[in-house]
Amino acid sequence: MPGTSTSLAPSILSADFSDLRSSVALAEKAGADWMHCDVMDGVFVPNITFGPFIVQAVAACSRLVIDTHLMITDPDRFIADFVKAGSHQITVHQEACPHLHRTVQYIKGLGAKAGVSINPGTPLSTLESILPDLDLVLLMSVNPGFGGQKFIPSSIDKIEKLHAMRQEMNPGMLIAVDGGITEDNAEDVVKAGADALIAGTAFFKAQNPMATAAKLKGFAR
Ligand code: DX5
Ligand code: ZN
Repeated sequence: MPGTSTSLAPSILSADFSDLRSSVALAEKAGADWMHCDVMDGVFVPNITFGPFIVQAVAACSRLVIDTHLMITDPDRFIADFVKAGSHQITVHQEACPHLHRTVQYIKGLGAKAGVSINPGTPLSTLESILPDLDLVLLMSVNPGFGGQKFIPSSIDKIEKLHAMRQEMNPGMLIAVDGGITEDNAEDVVKAGADALIAGTAFFKAQNPMATAAKLKGFAR
């Protein structure tokens, strides 16, 4: 719930794919709440990552919430496969869904939580009609496609505005922020209204992932 402690979602994208089990174990030991799985199709974003098979492998060795971020065109084709693979939360992009309401209801009908993500160049107003139906919004603070990019500073203002929108329209909805999260900007992100921090590089490439996780989870609104 908003207002409680900050959730940490390490992104598997920056993990060691030759040893996913150890990467998941590290996240669990560090107190992570979700495992964030970045699915890219080389069309919606200029990179290809993985499909349901890898999500299933992550889910099989994890006790955490499996948070699947679909950066793919026409996600309806694959949503059922990702739920079957063990995703507890499915987030689609507003920019990839002409029938967003139908897609959101479809995700919920399959028993998963439904999230919508928007790119840095997409205005919050595009979420207005769907907001009351959402379990979470994943606000992109980089242009999706790659880990290790720099946080776009104007995202802070966007998080604040989204926080005000959800207070009015759907107070139970979570705000997750994805891209370029570091120990240096996480406090501002949380203070602006984020409930969950997605962290790929900051967690998996940290000198001391345990200490980084404790720090990131320690910020509160
Ligand atoms: C970007 C992905 C992010 C990415 C975050 O397209 O959606 O989840 O893995 O990585 P960092 O934390 O390195 O920016
Ligand atoms: Zn992501």
